[in-house]
Amino acid sequence: MRNLKGKIALITGGNSGIGYATAKELKKNGAQVIITGRRKEAVEQAASVLGVTGLVADQSNLMDINDLAMEVARCFGKIDILLVNAGVTKFSLIEYMPESIFDEVMNINFKGAYFTLSKFIPILNDNAAVVLLSSTSAHISPIQASVYAASKAALNAIMKIAALELANRKIRVNAVSPGPVSTEIMGKIGLTQALENQMTSTIPLSRFGKAEEVAKLIGFLASDSAAFITGSEYLIDGGQCI
Ligand SMILES: NC(=O)c1ccc[n+]([C@@H]2O[C@H](COP(=O)([O-])OP(=O)(O)OC[C@H]3O[C@@H](n4cnc5c(N)ncnc54)[C@H](OP(=O)(O)O)[C@@H]3O)[C@@H](O)[C@H]2O)c1
Repeated sequence: MRNLKGKIALITGGNSGIGYATAKELKKNGAQVIITGRRKEAVEQAASVLGVTGLVADQSNLMDINDLAMEVARCFGKIDILLVNAGVTKFSLIEYMPESIFDEVMNINFKGAYFTLSKFIPILNDNAAVVLLSSTSAHISPIQASVYAASKAALNAIMKIAALELANRKIRVNAVSPGPVSTEIMGKIGLTQALENQMTSTIPLSRFGKAEEVAKLIGFLASDSAAFITGSEYLIDGGQCI
């Protein structure tokens, strides 16, 4: 299936996990892909293996977001697919939540995502597709994930308003909300076997998702096959939210 031929895609946080798998999927389907991330070596390594363009940018930093948008416009003109994927997970009970973790999670997952969308709107082609990476955490209320869940619930809210604001340009905006997916993020949160078992027990299909499965859904939403879909949130969670 090469239904993205001639399309240009930007993926924030494309050097690992879901962003990486989606870069591979979109490229396989014919798109020209640009990935970002903070770690220069990881971005260069991923870009080289995938055969895509890698740009270093911190999506929580407004100057970086502006520079990224200008660099993409300079090198590629306008883009057709924007995947706002860069994100982090940090846990704490509300009672003990440090301001530093609150700010870090909100600055990357929400403020950064918001201004990435905002600054890229002028360089989206009409008929472009935007996908925001949300999470089932916005629905299942996992303890210790209050800030993470709030950051994703906030994304879901702006996704719908963006879909309305951009409909006159036929730009579609949707959200994809995975349940637990085996990616590098799990190592970053210090996933233990006990925690994995506990999380798996909340999933009717009794397993974690794969990054490639999420990538295929994003590939569909980014394509013209989804031309009548906007303002929707797609759960991909093995039934976790039932
Ligand atoms: N895996 C899951 O179970 C799961 C479930 C639901 C939702 N999600 C969401 O899916 C998205 C991708 O997560 P993942 O599981 O693929 O995790 P991952 O493998 O840890 O990937 C996260 C990516 O985001 C990048 N990133 C993080 N902060 C960034 C920043 N400030 N600026 C630029 N890039 C940044 C990382 O690169 P650098 O470190 O180089 O910056 C990395 O490429 C996240 O938004 C996450 O919340 C994941």
